[in-house]
Amino acid sequence: MNRAVAALAITISAVGAACSRPAPVTVTPAPTVVAVPARPNVSGNWLSATENPDGTVRRTYFTLTQEGAEIRGTIHAPTSFVTITESAWDSAGFIVTSVTRNGTNERRLTYAGRLVGDELHMTLRRRAPQGAPQGNFRPVELVARRVPAGEGALPAKIALPARHPVKDNGIARTPAMGWNSWNKFAGRVDDASVRAMADAMASNGMKEAGYVYINIDDTWEGDQRDAQGNITTNKKFPDMKALADYVHAKGLKLGIYSSPGPVTCAGYLGSYGHEAQDAKTYAAWGIDYLKYDWCGASMLHPTEDEPALYQLMGDALLATGRDILYSLCQYGQLDVWKWGAEVGGNSWRTTGDIRDTWQSMSGIGFRQDVLAPYAKPGHFNDPDMLEIGNGGMTDTEYRTHMSLWSMLASPLLAGNDLRTMTPAIHDILTNRDVIAIDQDSLGVQGTRVWASDDSAAVRKEIWTRPLAKGASAVAVFNRGTDSADVVVDFAKLGVDVRGRRVRDLWEHRAVRVSGTLYVAHVPSHGVVMLRVGR
Ligand code: GLA
Repeated sequence: MNRAVAALAITISAVGAACSRPAPVTVTPAPTVVAVPARPNVSGNWLSATENPDGTVRRTYFTLTQEGAEIRGTIHAPTSFVTITESAWDSAGFIVTSVTRNGTNERRLTYAGRLVGDELHMTLRRRAPQGAPQGNFRPVELVARRVPAGEGALPAKIALPARHPVKDNGIARTPAMGWNSWNKFAGRVDDASVRAMADAMASNGMKEAGYVYINIDDTWEGDQRDAQGNITTNKKFPDMKALADYVHAKGLKLGIYSSPGPVTCAGYLGSYGHEAQDAKTYAAWGIDYLKYDWCGASMLHPTEDEPALYQLMGDALLATGRDILYSLCQYGQLDVWKWGAEVGGNSWRTTGDIRDTWQSMSGIGFRQDVLAPYAKPGHFNDPDMLEIGNGGMTDTEYRTHMSLWSMLASPLLAGNDLRTMTPAIHDILTNRDVIAIDQDSLGVQGTRVWASDDSAAVRKEIWTRPLAKGASAVAVFNRGTDSADVVVDFAKLGVDVRGRRVRDLWEHRAVRVSGTLYVAHVPSHGVVMLRVGR
């Protein structure tokens, strides 16, 4: 046991007679013995388990080995697995930290722990990112109990398949159109909301405009497989087959979400080691689309393993014999556009997650230009789902979002609440002239052919996209803060307008071109979109 001995000398004033000055007296008290509590041994496998409203359990395992004052081990939280790199003790207990580095970014995860009876109380210390209020990043208290060694360990690594080209599934000759739950509902998506979106899509004109997929994103999964290893749903989705039947009866298709890793981005079960089994389950339920999201796989595999792991599911989907659109989501790592088609992908995300802001949307959209060579029928770049109607941008900005995504031959996956959109948002999402550009059968992605001499974030840009039967789309964008008149010289853009009809796709009217020139009046953050030829 550690003991600290404190000895102090205190100088006090003795109170003497009123008329005489007190003489200083020095008293040396008897030495005080202060007991420091014994440092407990916290070695062991500890589990903190808390139930989510959907019935799944959030599990965090602290696997600790203590030697003297040093604590080593791992922390396996729902969406991360880290090794403890630093430990220390203070008067309250111990502190363990994991420092991980990704390039120049350092990530510190710190828990303060103490033993309370037979429980381990662990407090996750959260530091607000620069500029964010600390109040939103309060410490998280977890109570963990001992569990047998080995429980909560990462699964054994699976052998990666030899690489080979996955046969083209023959679907998605034009970019996918539909709706996805994540941008609006995130973890709140459930059976009722999916049915409601299918009802809305089937009755509000979206279906007629070409939207067909109703895609359930993350958080539908249970947290344990059944005894046969089959994937299960959580309380929010009581019967996936019945839900698929419902959606199909509306003339629509149902999409689902999983991960090549053991868990998804939100910490739910992924398909790792169960690829073929999950693909069969999806087919048996009647699933028509799979978004396959990397996140959790990074606990076990480096990015270099992505092609092989995506290929595994590409093969598995094909083997089901059902048409299941395969959507890769790994944020554009490892130049996915160069191998996405080979692993069977019908589309691949090219960026991190979009947010409902002009900065996010325009930042993503306008930098897709260089990826144009990789898009082709059946295999498209995916700059992420639409935010149109979610409230963070103006209608003008949402028109730009719709136009730019269509110039990019991007999947058009609405991300708003389809029951409650305004007429303006409905008009944007169902603009058939613009949708026809997105869905053009040539499947060639548009590119930037001109930009004004301003800094990128505020410049004017002209993009063109070749269309079937020799037609072209021309989009004039104004990223600046003032409206602008932009002179479009079709001759310089390489677009032949002679004898061709030129139509404004937002005004829905023919425009008059004088010679090869047209002056587009473009509002701030807005677009003028034209179709040349039928
Ligand atoms: C990632 C994806 C998102 C969404 C979430 C769900 O962040 O990029 O589109 O699917 O995971 O957890």
